Amino acid sequence: MQNELDDLLTVLRFPSVSTDKTHDNDVRACADWLARKLQSLKLNVQIHETPGHPVVVARNEHRADRRTVLIYGHYDVQPPDPLGEWKSPPFEPAIRDGRIFCRGATDNKGQFMAHLRGIEQTLAEDGDLPVNLIFLIEGEEEIGSPHLRPFLEKHRDALRCDVVAISDTGMVARGVGTFTYGIRGIACMEVKVKGPSIDLHSGIFGGAVANPATMAARLAATLHDDQGRVAVAGFYDDVLPIQDWEREAWNALGDSTPETLQLTGAPALFGEPGFHERERRWARPTAEINGIGGGYQGPGSKTVIPREAMMKLSFRLVPAQNPDSILDLAEAHLRRHTPPGVTLEITRGHTGPSYVMDPHSPAGKAAQRALKQTFGGHVALIREGGSIPIVQAFKEVLGVDTLLLGLALPDSQLHAPNENFVIQCYHDGVRLNRALLKELAG
Ligand code: BES
Ligand code: ZN
Repeated sequence: MQNELDDLLTVLRFPSVSTDKTHDNDVRACADWLARKLQSLKLNVQIHETPGHPVVVARNEHRADRRTVLIYGHYDVQPPDPLGEWKSPPFEPAIRDGRIFCRGATDNKGQFMAHLRGIEQTLAEDGDLPVNLIFLIEGEEEIGSPHLRPFLEKHRDALRCDVVAISDTGMVARGVGTFTYGIRGIACMEVKVKGPSIDLHSGIFGGAVANPATMAARLAATLHDDQGRVAVAGFYDDVLPIQDWEREAWNALGDSTPETLQLTGAPALFGEPGFHERERRWARPTAEINGIGGGYQGPGSKTVIPREAMMKLSFRLVPAQNPDSILDLAEAHLRRHTPPGVTLEITRGHTGPSYVMDPHSPAGKAAQRALKQTFGGHVALIREGGSIPIVQAFKEVLGVDTLLLGLALPDSQLHAPNENFVIQCYHDGVRLNRALLKELAG
């Protein structure tokens, strides 16, 4: 007999790293496998080419008297590095302590495969689904979904639906059904700090020219004030305040500070004054340096003034900040604060707006009923700090809300070594899919 987890383990073995060209064939092979799997369920499947990685779309036969639900997921994953920190190879799923360890186990293969399995079970038992289904799995989420919005625009009619559902967020704790009604947006930028035209001997020329690495550090330090507020002029202008009911709902979850300290291993928490750490992660914008460097990084010392240094920046955004306007403000800030003796080369990266919906809408309530049926107890209503760049486009292009019903746990180690998915969460996800489609049909 086929094992319940076999398909998931198969999908996990594809190293579908979207950001790394050397993995293009693996990304494609993963899409092909998914298409074949969905075809085996007698769904109507298409692999749509894009200028980047393909989009896989499967649908059942649609009937005018049924609601249409679009389930979205992504089959691409983040790079697995640093490789040395994995306890088992990143693309050989290993089961330990009731968890599957593999890059993509939670983000997002385990989560969308739970939906796929739920659909497979319902079709096997009932011969049909209670809704018109559009199952859309893309391969570029982890690089900002650059080709998906044009895809939605091009196929607007075929993708017309009543609501979108996604499992690609988290749960506040194991076994606690969690409805995420908002996520942050993102805007990325890369900065080169350029000095001399060649690397220089730091003895011969040191003291005469600006060192780009020093100046990159100086520039990086201008992004925040000493207390942790973002110091870019105008950065907070469009930020909508946290509502009283949200604060109440979040405070009812208890103080998250000890757990965040424990999960991060940081010696202390630090961030924008005046807000709880959870508020800072879920509902306040940030500026982060994701990478900074330049000059000699090898063993021993090398007396050099590097000709350039670099920083990779990203801003997490909240309603109603506009990603492009934030990049404008950031660029103006960096130009204004350019240290002496260097020039800047700024390249803008991907962007995705934040998203927030009314959790008490009819679809929101249906989703919460499905969570309650699946997990029992109280359903947590939260916002989260991560980004799913296409969600706001579902609203703008298709005119529909997105229900975020995540299955990640706080210690799933998304994007980090030893990413893992608790097998129980997979089984819960399968039941959640079945409850959700029934509730949305009703
Ligand atoms: N699944 C995550 C987003 C997420 C994680 C939302 C946890 C809420 C809670 C998604 O796959 C992701 O990592 N998105 C990237 C998007 C970026 C690369 C454009 C992110 O948030 O960094
Ligand atoms: Zn991710």
